[in-house]
Amino acid sequence: MDSEKLEYLRKCMKEVLSDSRYRHVIGVEEVCHDLALIYGVDVESACIAGILHDCAKYMTGDDMIRECVEHGIEISKIERKLPHMLLHSKVGAVYAREKYGINDEDILNAIEFHTTGRPGMSKLERILFVADYIEPNRKDSIPRLNEIRETVYRDLDEGFIKILENKLAYLNQNEYLIDPRTEETYKYYVNK
Ligand SMILES: [Fe+2]
Ligand SMILES: [Fe+2]
Repeated sequence: MDSEKLEYLRKCMKEVLSDSRYRHVIGVEEVCHDLALIYGVDVESACIAGILHDCAKYMTGDDMIRECVEHGIEISKIERKLPHMLLHSKVGAVYAREKYGINDEDILNAIEFHTTGRPGMSKLERILFVADYIEPNRKDSIPRLNEIRETVYRDLDEGFIKILENKLAYLNQNEYLIDPRTEETYKYYVNK
């Protein structure tokens, strides 16, 4: 594993992100590392995905929209409404490639889809998605969080589905927050 490269990327994140966001990122990296070992995914790729997944989160929603327009990235209606929540992953994937030299499509996809998920995700994509949700700094106010953690370490896909259920339950309470992609992802995986 190229630990110098990982250290460099951590340093970059420390510079752009708030302290609490940086702590979150390191927590996600650690969970990605362990899940990659357990589920047989390239550990370095998982760590890179963890470190960089929120690399655009420091931006304002307006700046994210501007970046998308400049890069010819399509913005859906819901993304335009909730740019900070939904576009940081898309812009994050662009920055991972352009600013941090990541060319591995699997890592870039993991970053791009870490908020909503998508049907047919790779194992690395699912690992980042769940790590983002269960990392140790996440508050215990998330319903069933410890149960979900336990499930993820025992059965990645079962844990992944539980997280999608939680996200949808949360989003359904705030209907305006729903990105149809999360629902599509859930339907795809429960029917699998
Ligand atoms: Fe994120
Ligand atoms: Fe995150």
